[in-house]
Amino acid sequence: MEKTVKIKVDGLYKTYLDARGRVYDALKKIDLEVYEGELLCLLGPSGCGKTTLLRIMAGFEQPSRGYVAIDGGIVEKPHVKYMILFQNYGLFPWRTVLGNTEYGLEVNGVPARQRKEKAMELVRLVGLEKFAHNHPHQLSGGMQQRTAVARALAVDPEVIFMDEPLGALDAMTRLKMQEEIVRLWQDKRKTIVFVTHDISEAVYLSDRIAIMSLSPGRISKLVDVPLGRPRNRSGADFARVQDFIYAEFEMSIREEIDYYI
Ligand SMILES: Nc1ncnc2c1ncn2[C@@H]1O[C@H](COP(=O)(O)OP(=O)(O)O)[C@@H](O)[C@H]1O
Ligand SMILES: [Mg+2]
Repeated sequence: MEKTVKIKVDGLYKTYLDARGRVYDALKKIDLEVYEGELLCLLGPSGCGKTTLLRIMAGFEQPSRGYVAIDGGIVEKPHVKYMILFQNYGLFPWRTVLGNTEYGLEVNGVPARQRKEKAMELVRLVGLEKFAHNHPHQLSGGMQQRTAVARALAVDPEVIFMDEPLGALDAMTRLKMQEEIVRLWQDKRKTIVFVTHDISEAVYLSDRIAIMSLSPGRISKLVDVPLGRPRNRSGADFARVQDFIYAEFEMSIREEIDYYI
């Protein structure tokens, strides 16, 4: 099947001032195409610019040079069709779990009764039915993150940008949520750009993995994940791909160390 480019990142730089007031490239010459319906992971160590790149792709920040285009249109500001799931949840504190989940449905003009039903379904999906009427401050970090996942899904966006959305979850919940994300993605055929620093998570989720390295933040390698679905985490193929990505990841970190010594 012919692949359609959904998101194009072209010659993108982002410069910031460091603590001493010197200009440095947080992102340097990022070129990337994300296909329609693809699940692509940005995998890289802390500080390599994953969040910055995602925020620029979603229109929350402007690049210093280059551009991001979605469906051929330059991204200049956030849009409800392109939803971002933040690292720090971004929930409305005055709304309950159900109320937060309903938000996107309100934006899309879904009638009240249908809204409640659909939101409850999503709340159940993320395992929070007992906490549907709690406010964010009455939830653990992991529960807040699950609420944020439910809320993002409710908007039914074309593209979902996810910034380490499962980082705060305990190991078992995290694996289960990874499965749910794949299931939803297969069901709804959305384009997902998923940020993580967890190699096994990237291998489980991705069609392709963009490996990023530090100083300056750049994409050092783009890797196809040659595994069918559903994926078996304990299979030999899975281990082989994981080892390969690990070696690539280590190599990009080693280049980094060589750069400093
Ligand atoms: N608003 C900002 N001003 C200055 N430096 C920033 C700003 N935002 C991020 N940075 C720096 O840019 C780099 C990349 O940050 P970030 O995108 O958060 O990385 P990651 O998400 O991969 O951990 C870091 O060195 C960070 O300190
Ligand atoms: Mg980050």
